[in-house]
Amino acid sequence: MEHRKIHSFPEGFLWGAATAAYQVEGAYREDGKGLSNQDILNGTNAFHDTAVTADFYHRYKEDIALMGEMGLKSFRFSVAWTRIYPDGKTLNRKGIEFYDDIINELLKYNIEPMVTIYHFDHPYELQKAYGGWYSDCMIEDYLRFARTCFEEFGDRVKYWLTICEQNNIVLYPDLIGGYLEDVDIDTWRMQVTRVMSLCSAKAINMCHEIIKDAKIGASYSFPPSYPASSSPDDVLAAMNENDFRDFYGMDLVYRARQNPWVIRYYEERGIDIRLTEEDMEILRSCRPDFIAYNYYRTNVAKGCPLESGQIQPGFNLTGKKGSITYPVFPGLYQGTGNAALEKSDWDWTIDPEGLRISLRMLYDRYAVPVMIVENGLGAYDQVEDGKVHDPYRIEYLKKHVEQLQLAVCDGIEVWGYYVWSFVDVMSTSNGYNKRYGLVYVDRTDSSPKELKRICKDSYYWYQELLKVNGNILDRRE
Ligand code: BG6
Repeated sequence: MEHRKIHSFPEGFLWGAATAAYQVEGAYREDGKGLSNQDILNGTNAFHDTAVTADFYHRYKEDIALMGEMGLKSFRFSVAWTRIYPDGKTLNRKGIEFYDDIINELLKYNIEPMVTIYHFDHPYELQKAYGGWYSDCMIEDYLRFARTCFEEFGDRVKYWLTICEQNNIVLYPDLIGGYLEDVDIDTWRMQVTRVMSLCSAKAINMCHEIIKDAKIGASYSFPPSYPASSSPDDVLAAMNENDFRDFYGMDLVYRARQNPWVIRYYEERGIDIRLTEEDMEILRSCRPDFIAYNYYRTNVAKGCPLESGQIQPGFNLTGKKGSITYPVFPGLYQGTGNAALEKSDWDWTIDPEGLRISLRMLYDRYAVPVMIVENGLGAYDQVEDGKVHDPYRIEYLKKHVEQLQLAVCDGIEVWGYYVWSFVDVMSTSNGYNKRYGLVYVDRTDSSPKELKRICKDSYYWYQELLKVNGNILDRRE
């Protein structure tokens, strides 16, 4: 659809940037913090650990000053569960003080805080005690943590996200999920999806009871799947990918509905995923204010016969194009590349129009306002003469913001857009090789060096964008 009239972003639009606790804070054992599953996991992989990362714990004032200088409207950050409940059960006031300080510092610069309650890092003690998200016990522990966040920060924090990317958490169980080796992977995935959806629904209700003027939703990863060709087989495969990977879990929280063909698929494999009436009642009671998602790329699916061997999705761990592992789910879909699109060095397609497409899909399906809470480009950045020139990132962001504005022209109610990330954070799969920040953090995987901050060219570009409230398309009215 081409527009004759270009509409502006609404006043008060939340132009933001984001980070997540374990990827940015460091100080992983300070002031009573307990260890999380991510502290344990990243302590043993090849890239990095969580001990220092960007050291936001000690440098948040410097970083927030840079946000202020930029004119950032909103900062999305997550609360480390293990700072507030180090073992999942016992309150640590030092943790609350830290987030109090961050929130107060943001408000000093008129930056709207958006809090993600859970972003991949739960207490390792809960993982050991009962297997983390695989157990229903997690619901009570998560809600205790959520209640504390609402009660302590709710006087100043009005935008909340319950859980970040529950669909990716189950898709990449080893990387961010806390997978249990002795449990069948499909059973694990569907039970974790159930537990997390119930947590989101209950936390949304709890938030509305405690903070009367709060807005809350869950956030997902949403790379829409395109058919590899116009063959109906591929079209169906793309529908399967969207339904199984993304819509199934979103539907639980946003429609209180269990997709019948997802139920049937698992039933044929001896797994009964039907929720109880009690579970459905909880989901039916939930009234999210908006749906949030992280948008980086799109996927492509082609038909996949039942006899194929299953392959779980993998990551490109090298930063050399061509080394990603596409998933094969027999009888559903198999992933493949997209020759029509450019790719990042990590094989993620670069698809600005996919952002508009995904907005249309979600707004159409759920009929609630939408927030893009992560969008950005992971790249190798270089310091030259004390500067970081990243035209590729500016190009990526600019094209996505243009498509966002076209979505506004389409009539979609979008409330916010957050660049991932404000400062360089430790990438989930690639440490400090793959950088996303608007602000460079001078460190490598093997050495934290001085952790000096250098504003990249993209930082100054975003600063200019904010001055015109994101309205970068020609005004033709
Ligand atoms: C999102 C996550 O899925 O993708 C972030 O919410 C993550 O935590 C981001 O950093 C980019 O992924 P990666 O693997 O490149 O760090």
